[in-house]
This record gives sequence, C-alpha cells and structure tokens, in this order.
Amino acid sequence: MIDDREKPTRVMIAGTGSYVPERVLTNAELEQMVDTSDDWIRARTGMRERRIARPDEASSDMGAAAGRAALAAAGLAVDEVDLIIVATSTPDMLFPSTACLVQSALGATNALCYDLSAACSGFLYALETARAMLQSGLYQNALVIGSDKMSAVTDWSDRGTCILFGDGAGAVVLKPTVTHRGIMSTVSGADGSLGDLLMIPAGGSRMPATAETVADHQHTVKMAGNNVFKHAVRCMTEAGRAALRKAGLTAADVKWVIPHQANMRIIQAISERVDIPMDRIVVNLDRYGNTTAATVPVALDEAVRDGRIQRGDVLLFVVFGGGFTWGAMVLEY
Ligand SMILES: CC(C)(COP(=O)(O)OP(=O)(O)OC[C@H]1O[C@@H](n2cnc3c(N)ncnc32)[C@H](O)[C@@H]1OP(=O)(O)O)[C@@H](O)C(=O)NCCC(=O)NCCS
Repeated sequence: MIDDREKPTRVMIAGTGSYVPERVLTNAELEQMVDTSDDWIRARTGMRERRIARPDEASSDMGAAAGRAALAAAGLAVDEVDLIIVATSTPDMLFPSTACLVQSALGATNALCYDLSAACSGFLYALETARAMLQSGLYQNALVIGSDKMSAVTDWSDRGTCILFGDGAGAVVLKPTVTHRGIMSTVSGADGSLGDLLMIPAGGSRMPATAETVADHQHTVKMAGNNVFKHAVRCMTEAGRAALRKAGLTAADVKWVIPHQANMRIIQAISERVDIPMDRIVVNLDRYGNTTAATVPVALDEAVRDGRIQRGDVLLFVVFGGGFTWGAMVLEY
C-alpha cells in the first residue's frame, strides 16, 4: 500500500539552462528576402533579430545543450535523470523521439524519454506532465526541455510568418521539495476545433510528403495571424487570472511574468489585462523572436542567470500556441 505521507507534495525548479544558435538573422536581412521593412517588423511585433540554427544542428542538439546546462545548475548527475520530456513541434524526425536523441547525447541511460506536442504551449504542458509524474512518487526528478528549430519549417517567401520565428532551446530540472512552494497552480486548455488557424499541413499521415506538397510549401507554418493574435490575448489573460486565483494569489504577489514570446503587442495587452506592469515582465523576443516551445524556458534561464529572478520569487508563466493550446502556471522559483 502506498502511504500518502510519503508522496512528495510539491515540485520545484532545481536548475535552468538554455541554448541559442550563434547565427543572427536581422530585420535588415529579411528586407532583402521578402517585401517587408525593419520599421514594420519592429512596430507590429517588437522583434529586431532572431537566431538560426546551422544546417547540421537539429532540435535534439539544441535541447541537449540546454539540458546539460540545466543539469549542471541543478547539480544532478546525468545517470540520475529519471525522466526526459521534450516539448517540440520540430522533432529531428518522426521517430525516434527527440527525447530519446537527447538521452543518447547526454548519456542519461536511466531515463524514460518521450516527446510532447503542444506547439508553443508545449513547455508548460510538459512541466505539468512532469509535475504529475513526480507527485505520483514514481519518479524522483525530470529534465523538461522545450526545443524548436522553426527555421526548418518556415516558408521564407511568406512575409506574414517568416519574420516571426527563431531557433532555440531551454530546459529545467524538476525535483520534489519540502522547503519550497514550487509549482502552486496550473490552468491549461485546448480547442482542437481552431487547429486550422495555425498549422503545418503536410508531413504527417494526413498529407504525406510528395513532390507536390514540397513544391506547394505545405511543410511550412500556415497562420491566420490576426485571428491567432486575438485568441492568444484572450486565452493567456484568462488562464493567467485563473491560475492566480487557484494559487490564492493576486497580481501584486507576482515578481515576474514570463509570457510566450510571440508578439510585443500581445505581451503589452496581457500586461494591461492582468494588471502587471511591463517592468515585471521578462521579454526577449526582440533578440530571439518566437522560438515556440523554447520561449519560456530560455527567458526564464536568462533572467535567473542575470540575477533578475531570485529564489523565493513568485513567477507566472502564460502560453498560447497551435492546437489551439494555452496555459498558465504560478510557481515559487
Ligand atoms: C503576424 C502578425 C505580426 C501580423 O500583424 P497584424 O497587425 O495582425 O497584421 P495583419 O496580418 O492584419 O496584416 C496587416 C497588413 O500588413 C501586411 N503584412 C503582413 N506581414 C508583413 C510584413 N512582414 N511586412 C510588411 N507588411 C506585412 C499584410 O499583408 C496586411 O496588408 P494588407 O492590409 O494590405 O492586406 C500578428 O498578427 C501576430 O503577431 N499574430 C500572432 C502571431 C502569433 O502569436 N503566433 C504564434 C502563436 S503561438
């Protein structure tokens, strides 16, 4: 019989890590590729530049680099890792999973490994999944990674999407805790009926790759930007408020918000609606664009490493992505 008193009741972030490729793609370079301008991109998105992975660099390579850094920060030996979840929309290949490839790169031979697909919400979904696995008492720790190489699925002739995305990976180690509040609440949701508004149509079992699907750019991101924008603001605002209520906290208790980095105007709208000023919101989309599942863990890791985020700070994550999927999480770092 399992004794409930022996179950860990709380799960905390024990360490963070991130990785972005060296190559910088500026707005000025995009001006040479499509009919756009630096002014338009800055004004409509807030983005100045983004990182692009090398041709030989895939999501598992970036994920492993971020994972290695998170394990070092958490002081967790690689052979002690119990569970690796990689949130990604750009797996190296359909299978094996990117998590298995990360396991191999790290040498984490004792870990259970799988991928999780929830587009830009993937990291938060993966955190919540790992938290449940740890709270069950069956696993002692988890390496949770968000890694995406969006440049591999970008239509570089579509000015409505190619300006938005970048490549990168972020990671955290989760551990049970009795000293920290850790993850206090999560609210997440999905609405599959709106999936058509943000998708990659081909490359799966519905529309396998053919010469025609490649010629027709069906393997790249298709997005109804304006419509996505409105849903993103509404869902992230509602989830953020609900997660705070569930945690028994108010906006005043939050030291830092880490939102999905899709558009500066989305972040400003959320700031107004949840009543948390922009100077308490971590923003890095000006340098990295939208790195999909990596936005939150990369921003978290940067703010931890530069000292903005300290142990004991209350954080609010809010995310939105294809699916549609969305969520918010309140935690003590
Ligand atoms: C994509 C996005 C930046 C477009 O901004 P917008 O203000 O909604 O712009 P619209 O799509 O309404 O387009 C306005 C005009 O700008 C044009 N435009 C689009 N991209 C452009 C670009 N890169 N450069 C110049 N003009 C552009 C459009 O063609 C349109 O022109 P028209 O009025 O002549 O038809 C914005 O909708 C967005 O960020 N959406 C959400 C993205 C997101 O969150 N995605 C991921 C979710 S996880």
